Amino acid sequence: MNILHNISLKNYNTFGINVNAKNFVQANSIEELQEIIQLNYPDKFLLGGGSNMLLTKDIDNALVIYLNLKGKKIIQQDDDFVYIKAHAGENWHEFVLWCLEHDFGGLENMSLIPGNVGTAPIQNIGAYGKELKDNFVSCETIEIATGKTRNFTKEACNFDYRNSVFKNELKGQYIITSVSFKLTKHSHKTNTSYGAIEAELAAKNIKKPSITDISNAVIAIRNSKLPDPKKLGNSGSFFKNPVVPNTIFNTFIQQFPEAPSYKVSDTETKIPAGWLIEKAGFKGKRFGDAGVHKNQALVLVNYGNATGQEIWDLAMRIKTTVFEKFGIEINPEVNIY
Ligand code: EPU
Repeated sequence: MNILHNISLKNYNTFGINVNAKNFVQANSIEELQEIIQLNYPDKFLLGGGSNMLLTKDIDNALVIYLNLKGKKIIQQDDDFVYIKAHAGENWHEFVLWCLEHDFGGLENMSLIPGNVGTAPIQNIGAYGKELKDNFVSCETIEIATGKTRNFTKEACNFDYRNSVFKNELKGQYIITSVSFKLTKHSHKTNTSYGAIEAELAAKNIKKPSITDISNAVIAIRNSKLPDPKKLGNSGSFFKNPVVPNTIFNTFIQQFPEAPSYKVSDTETKIPAGWLIEKAGFKGKRFGDAGVHKNQALVLVNYGNATGQEIWDLAMRIKTTVFEKFGIEINPEVNIY
């Protein structure tokens, strides 16, 4: 293992924020990772794909651990299903494409989500009508305090919308080293109910879409709305869509009857934060190098040299304005350091 000093993290986070890591190490295997976590540093900072974080300051005290655990394999299969284990450092989208090449179904709606396999369960990534939890079986982890391995079943992960046990009571305590998925080998249960997918397929005159057709439709939709982090720094949706009690929703919808919304349960409704931010006047706005994307107001962008603090100040300005205008609180989806 090789501990490096004073490394810029600009190329390790999709926002492209230039902060300094005083101590940086790459873990290439589980054994190496177990050795690294024994090292005597006051704190450990885990870095995967860097796609869901906003870095607002240098990392001086913690040891930054870059998780580079690679590999994916079929661990079990029967006539209908295949079980696949992928290591944490595998790029999510490349993993989805690999599944499609083998005609394994389930992850196609989540094509092109930035980040790595190992961080996907933390926020239960999701898009276009599917969530990670729909195909998740279990994940293997290492407990940072003890170095011991622990397997988490789906139930133990306590998945919810953009949420899991790893964002709550066990936050910062476990490192996910691999994730196992259950995928279909045939008779794939495709989900095209998300409006934009059907329109995209209809435009191509595809009536019975394969899982690859769905993936291609999702890729086309995402490319039309979401900026490519390689070209324009961003971390996908910056905010979560707020889920509000119907008492609050009823007052809101009387005042803004044109607002889109989705019923979550008999008592709660989800309102798209992108709509709230757009109506609050921020869509496409730029303040220095920090901005709000022109095609999707939920995405904050770094035009080049924005600091994490500048992005954060913009986020807080948006949050305050949305609350003043709509009486609805929006909260970040990304992890802030
Ligand atoms: N909307 C606006 N203005 C905007 C953006 C959206 O009015 O600038 C409206 C749209 O017209 C639509 C509604 O808001 O009526 C929902 O928009 P969209 O379908 O684009 O989805 P979203 O709710 O904004 C969520 C996820 C995305 C995911 C898409 C598609 C969250 C926080 N975000 O966005 O996830 O790709 O649905 O499933 O749930 C991510 O998490 O990084 C991410 C990109």
